[in-house]
Amino acid sequence: MNLASAVSSSPAAGLSRIVIVDPPVGPSATTAGRSRELCTELEAGNIVLMPSSPILIPGEDRDLLFGRRQARSPYHKNIAYRPTEDRITGASGSSEAESEQARRILRDYSRRVTEFLSNLLSPYATKWKLDYASYRPIEEKARPARLHARNDLLHFDSFPTRPTNGARILRFFTNINPVESRVWVTSQTFEAFGPRFAQTTGLANSSGREALTRRMRSFARILGIPVLSRPPYDELMHRCHNLMKEDTDFQETAPKQRWEFAPNSSWIVFTDCVSHAVLSGQYALEQTFLIPQDVLAEAKRSPLAILEKIAGRRLTI
Ligand code: SIN
Ligand code: FE
Repeated sequence: MNLASAVSSSPAAGLSRIVIVDPPVGPSATTAGRSRELCTELEAGNIVLMPSSPILIPGEDRDLLFGRRQARSPYHKNIAYRPTEDRITGASGSSEAESEQARRILRDYSRRVTEFLSNLLSPYATKWKLDYASYRPIEEKARPARLHARNDLLHFDSFPTRPTNGARILRFFTNINPVESRVWVTSQTFEAFGPRFAQTTGLANSSGREALTRRMRSFARILGIPVLSRPPYDELMHRCHNLMKEDTDFQETAPKQRWEFAPNSSWIVFTDCVSHAVLSGQYALEQTFLIPQDVLAEAKRSPLAILEKIAGRRLTI
């Protein structure tokens, strides 16, 4: 069975809704009850949209990011900012002063988003892990990329080199383009899609094979042989990510919703449970948070819980 035929027969099942938070709430405005409600909406696969972003980027910083003050555009690739190390990567080709400017702007963005979400999504804030922030300066429409790195194909996010071991991937995006919307399509949530995916990969029948792999790994560790130990959860999510992008039939026939994120809007989404693709748009900022299972409002709806229920065993290490 390919993924296209694995899509639920009801096209409306498991599609996302937009939940508008407008005007953006100030530091003291979100009650604990409202925070919890928003967490529940996000975990259900809905998108929290702020039509007018609470994180406005000063005009001169935008000009620096767009390269308006230079004869050439200084940033050619997505730039990642690692908050815990206060370091950026991906700025090669720009001068030292330009790299420093990008680092300052991303540091500031990362801090302001973190402060804003500590209030808006307070149940997560005590235990989340601050992951990377990024600046996305490239036009997404027809952006050249190898198949598995293409973001214009529907997928659930999974980090190949930074396993989350079951923690959820929450992302806060801001469209800083002054005139163009950032256009996404989304399809079914993991809750609707995951069980069919698990069927296609034979997850329910794979416990014997996994147990053998686990035994071999611990044996290798005892012998001091280095082992690649990506948790089973991350293996599965990554396999799902790749299979979705490889399946042209699925990409064409999956039920789709199209969203236009207007200039100066921000949106929040669990990209590990909302299948998404970006079709067009240039100049966005983003901050990622890893949300552990024990602070989720409804852990049983998480991709980890869904996959573990089907597998009948733990998928984390
Ligand atoms: C993605 O996570 O697939 C990209 C989203 C975006 O850059 O808008
Ligand atoms: Fe993605």
